[in-house]
Amino acid sequence: MSGDDVELEARLEDRDVFEPPAEFVEQANAGDPEIYEEFEENWPECWENAADLLDWDSGYDEVLDDSNPPFYEWFTDGKLNAAYNCIDRHVEAGEKNRVAIKWEGEHGDTRTYTYQDLYREVNEFAATLRDLGVEEDDVVTLYMPMVPELPIAMLACARIGAPHSVVFAGFSADALATRMNAADSEFLVTANGYYRRGDALDHLEKTNEGLDGVDHGVEATVVVDRLGDDDFGHDLTASQHDWDELMAEHRGERVDPVSRDAEDMLFLMYTSGTTGQPKGVKHTTAGYLSWSAWTSQNVLDLKREDTYWCSADIGWITGHSYIVYGPLALGTTTVMYEGTPDFPDRDRLWEIVEKYSVDVFYTAPTAIRSFMKWGERFPNEHDLSSLRLLGTVGEPINPRAWKWYYKHIGNESTPIVDTWWQTETGGHMITTLPGVKDMKPGSAGPPLPGLDVRIVDTNGDEVEPGRAGYLTVNKPWPGMLRTLYQNDERFIDEYWAEYSDTDSDDPDDWVYFPEDGAKIDEDGYITVLGRVDDVINVSGHRLGTMEIESAIVGVEGVAEAAVVGGDHDIKGEAVYAYVITEDGYEGDEEMRQRIVDGVEDAIGPIARPEDVIFTPELPKTRSGKIMRRLLEDIANEAELGDTSTLRNPEIVEEIRQKVQR
Ligand code: WT7
Repeated sequence: MSGDDVELEARLEDRDVFEPPAEFVEQANAGDPEIYEEFEENWPECWENAADLLDWDSGYDEVLDDSNPPFYEWFTDGKLNAAYNCIDRHVEAGEKNRVAIKWEGEHGDTRTYTYQDLYREVNEFAATLRDLGVEEDDVVTLYMPMVPELPIAMLACARIGAPHSVVFAGFSADALATRMNAADSEFLVTANGYYRRGDALDHLEKTNEGLDGVDHGVEATVVVDRLGDDDFGHDLTASQHDWDELMAEHRGERVDPVSRDAEDMLFLMYTSGTTGQPKGVKHTTAGYLSWSAWTSQNVLDLKREDTYWCSADIGWITGHSYIVYGPLALGTTTVMYEGTPDFPDRDRLWEIVEKYSVDVFYTAPTAIRSFMKWGERFPNEHDLSSLRLLGTVGEPINPRAWKWYYKHIGNESTPIVDTWWQTETGGHMITTLPGVKDMKPGSAGPPLPGLDVRIVDTNGDEVEPGRAGYLTVNKPWPGMLRTLYQNDERFIDEYWAEYSDTDSDDPDDWVYFPEDGAKIDEDGYITVLGRVDDVINVSGHRLGTMEIESAIVGVEGVAEAAVVGGDHDIKGEAVYAYVITEDGYEGDEEMRQRIVDGVEDAIGPIARPEDVIFTPELPKTRSGKIMRRLLEDIANEAELGDTSTLRNPEIVEEIRQKVQR
């Protein structure tokens, strides 16, 4: 620890409540503390505040139709188009020269799109998609890195009413195939590659491998040329087209935005769950868009004049809601960065903040912990005084990291919003309104106005403040997922069955369960403790243990595997794999490498095990269930929990010795 850090700890350590600075409060979009009471009294009509942020082709009848829970409908029979709301209306309002997207490549190359530029490109790509045969309601898969063509493609899909399904570019070929198969998606937009820490990556190779695994015909693939001369030289097949060539063919074309029903699907996003099969989370046009816009306005405090930067990847929900839809719906300038925070040097993000005078910055605790480790000299080299508000998302933030962010990035003069939400919630759920509420490091804050969040025990009864329980949401909200794609039954099983009376059609009997543990304090501030299902949160990204286990079991010579999350200084959690080999195979370095490669091939580098521990047996209960809790304790080098119910208690000590060695 440096001298400054010691001083910081001494001064900030004992403080557990921080007030937002008066300067911030004066200008905040949400500044009236009465909002909590008002929304509660006026529920669900309070959500007209969100709907009013949008332009509608025709107005809605009812704010909420809750006649068939948990299949809630919001803003029923309203008509609108998401791309129109993110682009056209700003151009029509005289904002055509305002910058919509500021993009920076890893090498420092930049591209700037005004709202007029975005209008032109989105229209041309919408015309291109139509020409390729994409019709309303066709799912278009976007397997793209952080290039401007990604938001352009998303908005072009929205313009013609074709839901997109973005697959994170870091995911493997197998993951692409699984998602295209699950959504019966016949159209794909991809890129030939992108840059990571100075290297060009061959994304088209991975795309082609993925396409080999698609079990139905793929009508067309569009390939963005990101690499130019660094291209790996793959020839395009007959159904693969070059983005630039298609766009040139459609230059100057315009496509009327399709008027979509409020409840029509805007996009699908696959996320990991307890089973091996990823869940296709369905988001709608009005509910989702109004939620991402309202939370961008009130939590991120975005103003049209702002330059705003969220350092996430658009391949995750954070990028959908808070790089693309929310900020653009509000007519803000949104920054997009292609590369990593440490290329060419560890001050890259602060260089970007300074260069663009970023007003609001949103990142993940895992990134903050890396910045902390690298030291304050990197941010100190830059003028960060443009910053007005900071945010975090993805996992719990420990108070030490919070305070470092507060001091070294925010100069103790910007509030921090710690935002709890999920792919399924569409946008923020639990966080302080930055101009209204005090901040408590380590606690996300109270639920947003209009939300009914409770911490309960296994019976569904509320637990006392300070005690750990399960997070539940007791009333619907506009941004919520509507179902899992073509799987209403799994939707109910995964999110509702636990705490609802599933035979009832009274909405009061339906409770949403996000599968997180949490506790609440006397002031109603919620500290989220983490997942309570078999999901690991690595660097703020959700990974299913079953998915990883099935990848490992697919490796030659593996008999059985169990995967758990263990604490990790930077990543929050890391993947630990316990593996039993088949007879005749040895758990050696070669095998370890094949296991790591197998996981990377099946999911992607982000799921790479931190450690592979070979063991002759796994700790099992008498009924044959693997005791994951014990494996977690071992990974964390924690005191071991109860082993008395095990069939093979002796194995625990044996495994533990292997890990310690
Ligand atoms: C899970 C959702 C929300 C977009 C990024 C992740 C965890 C998220 C926080 C936070 C504590 C958090 C939860 C949640 N999580 N934000 N501020 N504090 N935990 O989206 O992949 O859908 O994962 O991330 O466990 O359930 P996701």
